Amino acid sequence: MSSSVKVVVTGAAGQIAYSLIPRLVDGRTFGDKKVDLALVEIPQVVDKLEGLVMELEDSYFPNMGQVTYTDNFAEASKDADWFLLVGSIPRGIVYNGKKIEERSDLLSINGGIFVDQGKAIGSYGKDDAKILVVGNPANTNAFIGKNAANNDNQLWMAMTMLDSNRAKSIISKKTNTNIDDINNMIIWGNHSPTMYPDAENVLISNELGSSVINDMEWTESSFIPKVQQRGKAVIDARGASSATSAAKAAIDTVMACESPTLSGNCFSAAIASDGSYDVPEGLICGYPLITLEDGTIEIKRDISLSDFAKSKFKISIDELLSEKEAVKHLMQ
Ligand code: NAD
Ligand code: LMR
Repeated sequence: MSSSVKVVVTGAAGQIAYSLIPRLVDGRTFGDKKVDLALVEIPQVVDKLEGLVMELEDSYFPNMGQVTYTDNFAEASKDADWFLLVGSIPRGIVYNGKKIEERSDLLSINGGIFVDQGKAIGSYGKDDAKILVVGNPANTNAFIGKNAANNDNQLWMAMTMLDSNRAKSIISKKTNTNIDDINNMIIWGNHSPTMYPDAENVLISNELGSSVINDMEWTESSFIPKVQQRGKAVIDARGASSATSAAKAAIDTVMACESPTLSGNCFSAAIASDGSYDVPEGLICGYPLITLEDGTIEIKRDISLSDFAKSKFKISIDELLSEKEAVKHLMQ
């Protein structure tokens, strides 16, 4: 084995984590690196993680390193390379007598989690740590966490890979193309019903979606709303929010960050805007990203947006701005 990596996973006793954690040590996600896991839960359920650790041991993953579990996030954070911040409440449940309908309704419940976690990551995580926020509302939670961490060397991301995978699946069926031949499926903006899945710049067997799909009526009235509302559709059908597909998307994001992106390609995640594509600086916004040879992750800046795309993207940017306003009491 070449080296090791330490990964912190919060919400480790939850639905997503149960699919996610075994994949972190399966020898694929981090190649031949030894993977140390620090699993975090709230005090009420942390003891349940003993059972998960037993299962991991019984699975005998050759790449599994040290596995610990705790309700002390700061302690888990020490020298961690990766943070997968899943721990938070999903929508679709009844909370304080009210059904949580939209991801943004979770802001007041989940947002606070990311202040303390952000501070601990900034202080104890590795200086080049990567943080993927999965817990909703993911973009603004990452915004809160990044602000609290106050460490610009660390990379904060919010997950939009699930939306990208969903969009690829729909386009694969529409164009009768193998899903592996669909690349650059960009999700612009917020992981919310305002996100803009870009069917014009997607590459379908190396050709732009704008020429292969060539069906604006389908794009606007079927494709975009279906991607935007897929999370709700899964909740309605399953009675719980998407879990195994979310775990797969988190793994896809880690893998996209761990190896250089092929020339001309990109992947989807939300990171802090540097002003690219006229997004106000600092907002955690869904962008096309590339991983460079040295492991740096950058926004791909040569994508051309149509007027239609710009108008859709703006709706999502405006929503991110209003979420930022709603959490200003959590900024220090
Ligand atoms: P779940 O309820 O099954 O599990 C969440 C776990 O988080 C619970 O075990 C809970 O005890 C734990 N938790 C809560 N607060 C915590 C804290 N402060 N520290 C550590 N652990 C904590 O939920 P789930 O289905 O695993 O979903 C988790 C989150 O992921 C939800 O917010 C959901 O909306 C979100 N999600 C995001 C995406 C995405 O694409 N970004 C996709 C699916 C789900
Ligand atoms: C999803 O997209 O499946 C998740 O964000 C869960 C949700 O609340 O929709």
